[in-house]
Amino acid sequence: MNKNYKDLAQVALQARFHAYAPFSKFRVGAALLTTEGKIYTGCNIENSSFGLTICAERVAIFKAISSGETKFRAIAIVSDDSEFTFPCGACRQVLIDLAGNIDCIMMDAKNRYKVSKLASLLPLAFTEKNLKHSHQRKE
Ligand code: THU
Repeated sequence: MNKNYKDLAQVALQARFHAYAPFSKFRVGAALLTTEGKIYTGCNIENSSFGLTICAERVAIFKAISSGETKFRAIAIVSDDSEFTFPCGACRQVLIDLAGNIDCIMMDAKNRYKVSKLASLLPLAFTEKNLKHSHQRKE
């Protein structure tokens, strides 16, 4: 396991302490690495109107994009669970659109790792390219 990725998982582990998860009690931390080596963290932030909850991964990517970042290498995702926490479907879509086919590093409570390419977690993704190639149907 790449040392940078181990360090990234440790940053995600710390980021989960900021989680606001009074409803699910499921804390998640994310750490997003840019190609230049900068790290943006995220945690899940829940809401009394449950559907407005945002996942740790989207907080991290939105922080990075809104800070002017455009090129990314990897994201680490960590919860308190004994099993790996994989990004949800919505986060996979947002990440592939904004960060591309980055490495996803999952670390469980026993400090075991799994690394998956984002495109393997979201095959046949809908991206900007689909919009560029679209044509009007002729009826
Ligand atoms: N959650 C994340 O933050 N990231 C994931 O990858 C999975 C789910 C959050 C959303 C919610 O606050 C809690 O975990 C339970 O679903």
